[in-house]
Amino acid sequence: MSREQLSLFGLPPEPAPGSSEDGRGPDQAGGGGSVGVRDVRTLLEALGAEAARCRACGLRDTCRGVVFGEGDPESGIILVGEAPGGVEDELGRPFVGPAGQLLDRILLAVGFRREQVYITNTVLCRPPGNRVPSPEEVAACRPWLDRRLAIMKPDIMVCLGASAARAVLGRDLRITRDRGRWQTLGRMKVMPTFHPAALLRDPSKKRAVWEDMKAVRAEWERLRAGGPPESEGRTA
Ligand code: URA
Repeated sequence: MSREQLSLFGLPPEPAPGSSEDGRGPDQAGGGGSVGVRDVRTLLEALGAEAARCRACGLRDTCRGVVFGEGDPESGIILVGEAPGGVEDELGRPFVGPAGQLLDRILLAVGFRREQVYITNTVLCRPPGNRVPSPEEVAACRPWLDRRLAIMKPDIMVCLGASAARAVLGRDLRITRDRGRWQTLGRMKVMPTFHPAALLRDPSKKRAVWEDMKAVRAEWERLRAGGPPESEGRTA
């Protein structure tokens, strides 16, 4: 891990034992899916068109449009945030506002370009005033996540923040207590960590996210190499 990568993320340099600097991205990974790349993209495109017409909750009445998700669906990694904000709603892309810019740097710090992973949210429409989506809204939107998981079959999910982690792993999850600890959802490994917006408010959380994302990168590399998975437990 280079000094440049760490400073991108706003952290001081440190030795990073065991890190990979081989320059290969997840686009060269097999991913977990058995469906061909073209099939995955075609299926996702069709699903996105369907989602664009979704009226399963009231959020679509107040936002500009559905922010479905983007990135490499064959990477084996999906990142899930809470909900689109103002910039995302305007541009129709997830994580492109201030929190998204920090997310890009976090990803780069562990060797991923954002287009090499798949990024989405637990709800696809911006809640008014960027409020936290209600459990009913999250539940109404859940099929879009589940259907993508069925198509993409990622090996690893990163839940960005309490809202996403609770939506995926259950209401009793506490992000401060449970971040950095691998969980499972079916065959997928799930890493809860802090939301980038929380890091913007409290930069002291960066160290924890750095540790969590290093664990994600290491696990992704292990899986790609066909090695035995990391056992469950805190990474920091
Ligand atoms: N915060 C989120 O959770 N998702 C986005 O897409 C942007 C900000």
